[in-house]
Amino acid sequence: LDEGYQKTYQKFDEIYPTLPKGDGWLGDGFGVGQFLQYQGFWIPSIPLRGIMLIHDHFKPRPTDIILSTSPKCGTTWLRALIFAIINRNSYDFHNHPLLSSNPQDLVLFFEGYIQEGGSTSFIESLPSPRFLSSHIPFSLFPNSMTSSSASACRFVYICRDPKDAFVSMWHFMNKLRARLELPPLPIEDAFELFHIGVSLNGPFWDHVLGFWKASLESPNKVLFLKYEHVKRDTSACVRKIAEFLELPFSADEENEGIVDKIVKLCSFENLSNLDVNKKVDDEKHRFIKNPEFFRKGRVGDWINHLTPEMAEILDQITKEKFQGIGLSF
Ligand code: A3P
Repeated sequence: LDEGYQKTYQKFDEIYPTLPKGDGWLGDGFGVGQFLQYQGFWIPSIPLRGIMLIHDHFKPRPTDIILSTSPKCGTTWLRALIFAIINRNSYDFHNHPLLSSNPQDLVLFFEGYIQEGGSTSFIESLPSPRFLSSHIPFSLFPNSMTSSSASACRFVYICRDPKDAFVSMWHFMNKLRARLELPPLPIEDAFELFHIGVSLNGPFWDHVLGFWKASLESPNKVLFLKYEHVKRDTSACVRKIAEFLELPFSADEENEGIVDKIVKLCSFENLSNLDVNKKVDDEKHRFIKNPEFFRKGRVGDWINHLTPEMAEILDQITKEKFQGIGLSF
């Protein structure tokens, strides 16, 4: 560790015992087993250390693109779409990196990657534009990244109906629990935690609210998307993202059908059926194995898992939290 990093690690070690702890859905596993309550959010220890490193050491560039998501809301899909949009002139669609690599290997996870190598030089050495993905709530980014000044970064945010996000998270956590040889977490227990806000980088609703408000205040810096909209009209969303990133499709590109090629390449059907995404590559020592990023990829699957009472409770919270600000699901 270089000296600067050491100081931040020490700071982390000092505040760690003072933070309230919450049930991380995973027993004690993976350094994400326990959530720490930090400035209103429930964050596992490793990403929290990443957040502190970002504050102390990250030098934002105006060209940085941060894909921000609440977990299980479409990170994989948007990683693929944005990667394909920004690199559309570098690769042939028949021989595209997304056909042989999972999006997690092509788009770095910000709060994890900042820790690699034990110094800033790793992240500093990335060429512009840096495209990073993150689950950090908007208010926990340093001001230098989120201000409306010209030097701040661009954020693309995606969220999803809380009911589907919860069901997706519950399935996902049970896959990880099986790998840790823990018994499945009953949906009722997961629900008890989720609805009071104890979930990965939760409360879920506060995560969404932070980015929603920022997108209203700085529409040229924060693009707010919903999984349901991207699903309904992926092409329109691809065009919107490209325009937001100031990389609009030219008339020639439109005539060549590039948008359609990107949409097909990144579709759930295509990505989830690729060998690279069906096989578990143990050599990679990834926290999340490629197949675990794909389940059903549908809107409204909550109906198959939640009781009407559970659905009503989540809808009620959504209504109360988002009341009067023009946001609904
Ligand atoms: P379901 O569990 O509802 O199927 P994340 O990538 O943020 O972890 O989110 C995972 C969710 O996105 C899962 O939802 C997964 O199936 C879905 N997903 C993954 N890739 C997708 C794609 N290319 N298109 C649409 N949905 C996708």
